[in-house]
Amino acid sequence: MAMIEASGLTKTYRSKSGPVHALTGFDLTVPEGTVKALLGPNGAGKTTVVKMLTTLEVPDSGTAHIAGIDVVADPQATRRTIGVSGQYAAVDENLTGFENLDMIGRLYHLGAKVSRERARELIDVFDLSAAGDRPVKGFSGGMRRRIDLAGALVTNPRVLFLDEPTTGLDPRSRLALWDIITSLVAGGTTVLLTTQYLEEADRLADDIAVIDGGRVIAEGTADHLKAQVGGHRLVVALVDEARADQALEVLRRHGDAEPTLGSDGRQVEVAVTDGPTALQRTLADLGAAGIELHDAGMRRPTLDDVFLQLTGRKAVDEDDDPDTASIATGKTSRTSKKEARR
Ligand SMILES: Nc1ncnc2c1ncn2[C@@H]1O[C@H](COP(=O)(O)OP(=O)(O)O)[C@@H](O)[C@H]1O
Ligand SMILES: [Mg+2]
Repeated sequence: MAMIEASGLTKTYRSKSGPVHALTGFDLTVPEGTVKALLGPNGAGKTTVVKMLTTLEVPDSGTAHIAGIDVVADPQATRRTIGVSGQYAAVDENLTGFENLDMIGRLYHLGAKVSRERARELIDVFDLSAAGDRPVKGFSGGMRRRIDLAGALVTNPRVLFLDEPTTGLDPRSRLALWDIITSLVAGGTTVLLTTQYLEEADRLADDIAVIDGGRVIAEGTADHLKAQVGGHRLVVALVDEARADQALEVLRRHGDAEPTLGSDGRQVEVAVTDGPTALQRTLADLGAAGIELHDAGMRRPTLDDVFLQLTGRKAVDEDDDPDTASIATGKTSRTSKKEARR
């Protein structure tokens, strides 16, 4: 049975600079007990999807059902079925972790005794016992995310929405949150999570839908999407840019697609399926041709690679808000370096 089902959703926002078509015919099906990742760059429409499916906003057209309930016609019943953890942690700063969770239980009419029990249980599960009695305003980013996620779970929802659950977290907090989400879904919860990181979608989701311009542009498993850009990316940095054409020729021989030359004129890159073998052969041929290298290695595909392949443009648009763009770019390159070292 489809636990989450959306069909032909559209949403246009009015802004000072004109209409913004946030959703342009969005379709999605998430079977019961599975995890779907909605993967896309900033501004793709991810949060708008979550808002529509969680009754926070109403679509202009299209239909959505959660556990068979019509989201637009019956928002109350929908809310009783779902939990939401937003992109920005929605907790009361002045209350302690325990009080926040207890308050949510009361709001959902669980009763004082059950609310307190549930709050204690979640504080325990989320490893927040040391912080449970402190006001949230002193919490780190990772702790906030955990308390926010715990809040979404107070009512034991059958369907959980996580909007960019780890964006902005340090690598250790991210790993901790991944573990928590993994154990949650093992219990049979249906999850829709949004993310900008292919690695995160890969790690957590059964299936990935890539979103751009308010609609799904590709769908499948992480392996399926990565296969479209090759299993690995082989990257070499040349000492002398005058040798770029020769280097491209060598990479073309060992790659699975047309190699690319970076804007610096020295970084040559190609998609390969058998990474280690291709790397060895490429290095041998470059060496034989006397082409000197600054650096050489492999990296796993990122959202940028998948996106470039699907749309012909980069996921991080240079025209984006400069702050957001530089943050996103920074993260992507850190991930790539980490991946390349593996
Ligand atoms: N309340 C709003 N008013 C005007 N434009 C909006 C509003 N909310 C979102 N948008 C625009 O809709 C598009 C999709 O936004 P969003 O769903 O937040 O994307 P994402 O979560 O993938 O970053 C963006 O162009 C964004 O600027
Ligand atoms: Mg968003």
